[in-house]
Amino acid sequence: MQIQIKAIQSDALRITTDILAVGVPEQKTLSGTILKLDRKLNGAVSGLMKLGDFEGKEKTSALFYSQGKIGAARVLLVGLGKKGKADLETLRRAAIAAASKAVEIKAVRLCVCLHQEIEGFKPAETAQAITEGLYFGAYRYDEYLGTDEAGKKRPAAIEAIIADISASFVAAAKKGLAAGAITGSCQNFARTLANRPANAVSPQTLADEAKKIARQTGLRCTILNEKRLAAKKMGGILAVGRGSANKPHLIILEYRPAKASNGSTGSPSKNTPTIGLVGKAITFDSGGISLKPGEGMQDMKFDKSGGIAVLGAMRAIAQLKPKVRVLGFVPAAENMPSGFAYRPGDIITTYSGRTVEIHSTDAEGRMILCDAITYAEELGCQTIVDIATLTGACVVALGQKRAGVMGNDEKLVERLKEISKKTGERIWPLPCDDEYVEIMKSKIADLKNTGGRWGGACTAAAFLSQFVKKAKWAHLDIAGVGVWGADETLAPGSIGFGVRLLTAFVMNT
Ligand code: BES
Ligand code: ZN
Ligand code: MN
Repeated sequence: MQIQIKAIQSDALRITTDILAVGVPEQKTLSGTILKLDRKLNGAVSGLMKLGDFEGKEKTSALFYSQGKIGAARVLLVGLGKKGKADLETLRRAAIAAASKAVEIKAVRLCVCLHQEIEGFKPAETAQAITEGLYFGAYRYDEYLGTDEAGKKRPAAIEAIIADISASFVAAAKKGLAAGAITGSCQNFARTLANRPANAVSPQTLADEAKKIARQTGLRCTILNEKRLAAKKMGGILAVGRGSANKPHLIILEYRPAKASNGSTGSPSKNTPTIGLVGKAITFDSGGISLKPGEGMQDMKFDKSGGIAVLGAMRAIAQLKPKVRVLGFVPAAENMPSGFAYRPGDIITTYSGRTVEIHSTDAEGRMILCDAITYAEELGCQTIVDIATLTGACVVALGQKRAGVMGNDEKLVERLKEISKKTGERIWPLPCDDEYVEIMKSKIADLKNTGGRWGGACTAAAFLSQFVKKAKWAHLDIAGVGVWGADETLAPGSIGFGVRLLTAFVMNT
């Protein structure tokens, strides 16, 4: 689905469109634009409210026909919840609902009406959140679906207008709209890649996608194939990838600011401020020799979501052009059992030189991440954020609403948490200090790759912490939020969790 969005200064009630979407907070008496709309529609809005059919509550909406009384054929009231409680995510959610409704009823033109009840926010932030929401809500994963049922055809595109009567508001909104269109489209790009099944996406496919991103956006791209991984002795990635016919790769994307913030141009030196984003991309996690139970195994195609979030964020970053250097690392492998597969009991020498005794081949994420983290630091990243569908334990701890965040630097963790409130991809801190490492000491190697039954999200993160030398590091465990299973109001499949968060993190550095 294509989506085009523009912001215009206009009276939304006059715009000719298929749907006019209006955000409505919970309120006793109507005022401003909503009152004006109610009057033009002969009391249709207040009528709905009197009946109790629509009260402006969050996650509710009402669709009705305007019968030629305004420019729009239909009106969609979207609840914004209690006045004063609404945040940017409320607006994003309202826009998701509006765009989703447009897709559902196969409308082409959608107008989002801004008004005083919304304008407690900065114009650019408002427009960015709404634009992101429109992209998000218009998305469906339909690559493999046949043609729609007869009758109305699903339109190939949605044209959306964000309308406001204030010219200065619209002028400021345009910048936010442009940024939102970048993050929104990159997030949908990530969702499609994540939704594709493992018979369509291999580590090689991801490497090709990365090269394509680089070609389109001017990023630099380096691919380490199995041969080059072997030459570098990246034992962790190699071990995990060995069981599959689809060979492992390490993808590296580099963004260089036009002028480094230390004033130098040309090749970055060791001191150029550099952020490393590292994402786990297991294109399918069968568990390997420590095979997973069959039930639910189909969802392990989503085990590449962290790596794809990094690809999506790098694609956005390349267009948003921050002042810092950013390196994206995506270790990609397929975790399969076979006669070549790594086994429980194997001792693997990781890229760092540290040896790891394998206790479960299903704890593969940390084995590929540790090599990538070592490499990220070697290439000059002073700050590293990794993102991974790492542990079922994190889902047990936090459920499907929030991702876990851990790290070796409280300020970094806190900053990510603050940014996550704005981007709506909520995260919550868990501990991972050295106490959690003890249980992973091995008698015959430097570490074991599992930490027993309890606190699995914390021990997994603590394992990773052992591969960070001097960098400030944070880890996002997105096992529970990779797919928006918890929210049936959203399109099924990947939500591209992390694209907005990682992008906003880099842009705010
Ligand atoms: N990819 C899984 C984690 C996962 C579980 C993601 C559920 C999404 C939903 C990971 O590779 C894994 O298998 N982790 C194991 C670790 C254990 C063997 C120490 C787990 O969580 O059970
Ligand atoms: Zn996994
Ligand atoms: Mn696993």
